[in-house]
Amino acid sequence: MAPGAFVCFISLSVLGLVNLTPLVLLEEEYRFKEWMSEHNKVYEIEEYYHRLQIFTENKRNIDRHNAGNHSFTMGLNQFSDMTSEEFRKSVLLTEPQNCSATKGSHVSRNGPYPEFVDWRKRGNFVSPVKNQGHCGSCWTFSTTGCLESVTAIATGKLLLLSEQQLIDCAQDFNNHGCMGGLPSQAFEYIKYNNGLMTEDDYPYKGHDDTCHFKSTLAAAFVKDVVNITSYDENGMVDAVARLNPVSFGYQVTADFMHYKEGVYTSTRCKNTTDMVNHAVLAVGYGATENGMPYWIVKNSWGTAWGMEGYFLIERGKNMCGLAACSSYPLPLF
Ligand SMILES: *[C@@H]1O[C@H](CO)[C@@H](O)[C@H](O)[C@H]1NC(C)=O
Ligand SMILES: *[C@@H]1O[C@H](CO)[C@@H](O)[C@H](O)[C@H]1NC(C)=O
Ligand SMILES: *[C@@H]1O[C@H](CO)[C@@H](O)[C@H](O)[C@H]1NC(C)=O
Ligand SMILES: *[C@@H]1O[C@H](CO)[C@@H](O)[C@H](O)[C@H]1NC(C)=O
Repeated sequence: MAPGAFVCFISLSVLGLVNLTPLVLLEEEYRFKEWMSEHNKVYEIEEYYHRLQIFTENKRNIDRHNAGNHSFTMGLNQFSDMTSEEFRKSVLLTEPQNCSATKGSHVSRNGPYPEFVDWRKRGNFVSPVKNQGHCGSCWTFSTTGCLESVTAIATGKLLLLSEQQLIDCAQDFNNHGCMGGLPSQAFEYIKYNNGLMTEDDYPYKGHDDTCHFKSTLAAAFVKDVVNITSYDENGMVDAVARLNPVSFGYQVTADFMHYKEGVYTSTRCKNTTDMVNHAVLAVGYGATENGMPYWIVKNSWGTAWGMEGYFLIERGKNMCGLAACSSYPLPLF
């Protein structure tokens, strides 16, 4: 429905409730109510009108984007009643993470590499998508996702591993719980701590707590940490094609929160190591029919976000700094 197609908008100020600018169309308010029920949202009356306005602005931006010619579409999701600032505070790293790994130890072979790789299809090597909730703990999900896969590829057993242990216990390795951290530093922690417990034994709470690690329950181990040299995106292709999924960081900007499907690309995001604010897991790569190369990426915002919790992002251009700091562990078993 084109914006402006309805003349039957209601002015809420007429109802004496709140003075809204811009005016929200009745149709838009109806969509908001639908979204509220889909996401089990309940608000106090004033909060309702505040959220309705933010939602409507987001929805209009989404529709405007989708009316254009883009390689990805946007859609409503659990973040649709948040401003970009609230979104940033809610799920992204809040501390700047300077992740520079100027010289990594990953050594690439010569290709050729397959045109399409997806570790979800190579066997039972990728755990289900998880949800970090309102905690800047993406780095722990990127870490567990990678170690889960690396361990499963080595042993044939896919274990679910504990993010909460990393939130609570990995501070000595320059990680900050719900305030951020880096997968490479989390792998270091697991290596020197002699192990990471399972999700069942050390369940996710999504807030900072004291460390409850029990060495007798350690279930996955790291022999060594491998960084891929900063900006060596071909090194990432080599690692994902030959070895295992790879943890990486990149910069999320406001347009990313509305991502629905297709190949994400942006002219707004920055591409340097000091701008990275989100960590995820590359589980494969490919190219569209039009020849646009992409990464297949596992996120930690639940399965309702993006493509069942996954997204595609343009490959080969260090898009949003995605090649700035990538790493994976060598398993010990
Ligand atoms: C849409 O964008 C693609 C890729 O940039 C381009 O090849 C195509 O011609 C565009 N189509 C229209 C209708 O503008
Ligand atoms: C990040 O670290 C690199 C290497 O240690 C350093 O050269 C660079 O100045 C740092 N950048 C910021 C913004 O701290
Ligand atoms: C890997 O890179 C991180 C920064 O991202 C750094 O702290 C760590 O020392 C590096 N580890 C190795 C083994 O080079
Ligand atoms: C970052 O993007 C700019 C502008 O597109 C480009 O000139 C630069 O080479 C990129 N830097 C890296 C490290 O990818």
